[in-house]
Amino acid sequence: MRILTFTGKGGVGKTSVSAATAVRLSEMGHRTLVLSTDPAHSLSDSFNLPLGAEPTKIKENLHAIEVNPYVDLKQNWHSVQKYYTRIFMAQGVSGVMADEMTILPGMEELFSLLRIKRYKSAGLYDALVLDTAPTGETLRLLSLPDTLSWGMKAVKNVNKYIVRPLSKPLSKMSDKIAYYIPPEDAIESVDQVFDELEDIREILTDNVKSTVRLVMNAEKMSIKETMRALTYLNLYGFKVDMVLVNRLLDMQENSGYLEKWKAIQQKYLGEIEEGFAPLPVKKLKMYDQEIVGVKALEMFAHDIYGDVDPSGMMYDEPPIKFIRTGDVYEVQLKLMFANPVDIDVWVTGDELFVQIGNQRKIITLPISLTGLEPGDAVFKDKWLHIPFDLERQGQHKRSREMHKA
Ligand SMILES: Nc1ncnc2c1ncn2[C@@H]1O[C@H](COP(=O)(O)OP(=O)(O)O)[C@@H](O)[C@H]1O
Ligand SMILES: [Mg+2]
Repeated sequence: MRILTFTGKGGVGKTSVSAATAVRLSEMGHRTLVLSTDPAHSLSDSFNLPLGAEPTKIKENLHAIEVNPYVDLKQNWHSVQKYYTRIFMAQGVSGVMADEMTILPGMEELFSLLRIKRYKSAGLYDALVLDTAPTGETLRLLSLPDTLSWGMKAVKNVNKYIVRPLSKPLSKMSDKIAYYIPPEDAIESVDQVFDELEDIREILTDNVKSTVRLVMNAEKMSIKETMRALTYLNLYGFKVDMVLVNRLLDMQENSGYLEKWKAIQQKYLGEIEEGFAPLPVKKLKMYDQEIVGVKALEMFAHDIYGDVDPSGMMYDEPPIKFIRTGDVYEVQLKLMFANPVDIDVWVTGDELFVQIGNQRKIITLPISLTGLEPGDAVFKDKWLHIPFDLERQGQHKRSREMHKA
């Protein structure tokens, strides 16, 4: 199943572009599902049709769904919620409040992502279009499994080494301690959710079937946020294959008091094309009305893709490369707009850590590199190069061994 994820700031046109892409895919014969994970749903407004929390048929080959995150959350998280509610209430938090506190920010969207796996294994669709919440939120969530894989190991270990042994001689424990031990079904659902998130991370970073497309406007704030988004997406291994600049004023038309805006947009457009190269940048004009209904979406799709099939790979370059030249092995990470001052690189065991600001990526190293220290990382031509000198380090290792002998 081909997965196309659209992301960008609020109001830039993500939903319109997602819906238009889905319409086009269906017309090209791909069985398509367009799924909105943005709690502020607007897919139904875009199609001008009522949509439910299960796929609704729009036309031949096309279904759409607005996930009801609360229902999905209840299904997957119920036993954990019950446990947390008990703990919070024991601390004196009132019932409703305690219930609310068991839902962490962004969690609703996280649970809608779990649907990806369900639709992939069901095999009913050839293409899945994801219309996501504004950049910051989605990014954080998309990267969550990566960040959490650490926490996940920790939770599982706590469970294995502390909770399980403790829960046996329950009778001998004081009531107070026993009260705080999570019940087996809560531990199981935490385990299961983490496992599924890991699967979803794999699906979304597979780089062959899944790509991300960034929607933006030619405005300072939108550009900044999109640049940041692209850096983090690359850091986490998501492949971005297209940038769409939406709502551009038509240069041929007289725009009255908006004339000044044209010059501003043109200036930013230049910056965007230069900055995001070699990614393809698609320019989309501002229509004189809202884009609503299948007919209007078809027109919009034509502006976006011409006669090209949207399921194609618009730009094909993996965000992480492992390259060996002689005795120097390089891990290369495409980071586009990262500020070298903010980048931190270190190795622990077989894991390479790359940190930018407060975002961290963990890359599992090939076996031949484990135990080696990375050389100085260099940021050039939008790529972070992290060298490992096999020869030098080999000598290093040997001399250490000799020392020991
Ligand atoms: N190129 C465009 N020309 C005119 N109206 C547009 C264009 N792109 C989007 N819109 C309109 O702008 C509004 C917001 O777009 P939407 O796709 O919902 O943005 P987002 O999902 O990013 O919040 C909608 O009413 C939509 O019809
Ligand atoms: Mg939207």
